[in-house]
Amino acid sequence: MRPLRWRGDVDGCLELLDQTRLPNEVAWIECGDVATLHEAIRSLRVRGAPAIGCAAAYGVVVAAKEIAARRVADWFGELCKACDHLAAARPTAVNLFWALRRMRHCAESVCAEPLDAARACLLREAHAIRDEDAAMCRAIGRHGAALIPPGGGVLTHCNAGALATSEYGTALAMMYTAHERGTKFRVFVDETRPLLQGARLTAWELMQAGIDVTLICDNMAAQVMREGRVSIVVTGADRIAANGDTANKIGTYGVAVLAKAHGIPFYVAAPSSTFDLTISNGASIPIEQRGAAEVCEGFERRTAPVGVECYNPAFDVTPAGLIAGIVTELGVIRPVDRETIHKVIGAALDPVQGGYGG
Ligand code: MRU
Repeated sequence: MRPLRWRGDVDGCLELLDQTRLPNEVAWIECGDVATLHEAIRSLRVRGAPAIGCAAAYGVVVAAKEIAARRVADWFGELCKACDHLAAARPTAVNLFWALRRMRHCAESVCAEPLDAARACLLREAHAIRDEDAAMCRAIGRHGAALIPPGGGVLTHCNAGALATSEYGTALAMMYTAHERGTKFRVFVDETRPLLQGARLTAWELMQAGIDVTLICDNMAAQVMREGRVSIVVTGADRIAANGDTANKIGTYGVAVLAKAHGIPFYVAAPSSTFDLTISNGASIPIEQRGAAEVCEGFERRTAPVGVECYNPAFDVTPAGLIAGIVTELGVIRPVDRETIHKVIGAALDPVQGGYGG
């Protein structure tokens, strides 16, 4: 299962599986221009930190095609403007800025070449970002599968599956690999208010894989833990600071506190592209604020009084102290602290900082 695909050659087009229509409808949308992709990221048609990064990388290829069509002399300047526009779509997931920075460096290295050659180079780089993401997800699955206890229960929040990456997922990669190895376990999926990524997306993709899945409302997690049904919690991440504080979908922090209270290990699964070592701790991670309509009239049904004040932060930050380990493509970071993160991730990350800090 893949949430995005590039159709054709350098003159081709980006197609996205419209995740706002799942699970009722499997529909693909065409992103033939940067404005359409910006809207798709903003409205969560494509979502999940690594998938947003991959989509934005292809967005730069789309931008280069638009520029070529307009015969712009200074195409690199125009391309940077398109990168800035895509970077403004969502503020929290660092993979977006990571991928755009990589594409901009690629463009910079070929900007003296004829536009056709430069565009071919950009498409190769976007494919590389997609393929590397897929490889990282597979490696996360290999490193993390042994943490899934045979016969046990796993609780997850939001969607950190194939739909949130180029393929296979991060938190769900651990479950897919364990399942492929014959481990039997049950997954409790928080429905994940307000946009129901757990109910609509995680339950859907786990069922397709034949994994035993039980959907719960977010406010049932404590009771399910007290009943002894959960042996481990695993979630994805949108941005991990240098000290291990982790931003993920709103509600993750609460689940981590509950896990601590019940003596259940709480793990995060994420590729190195989700680490932001320029940020010392979670207090500096920008938290996306979204509109009131998602809370009081989600899915086109009014569920609160007209005019009520709403607050809708899309992410929260789980302090490193609540995280038993972070499963990456390079291995499991344990304990979760500045030194261990630096040792495992420091060398893997692009040393060139600046630009899209988010
Ligand atoms: O708002 P979303 O749906 O983009 O939020 C996604 C999450 O919080 C995921 O858990 C995170 O991006 C990890 S995806 C592998």
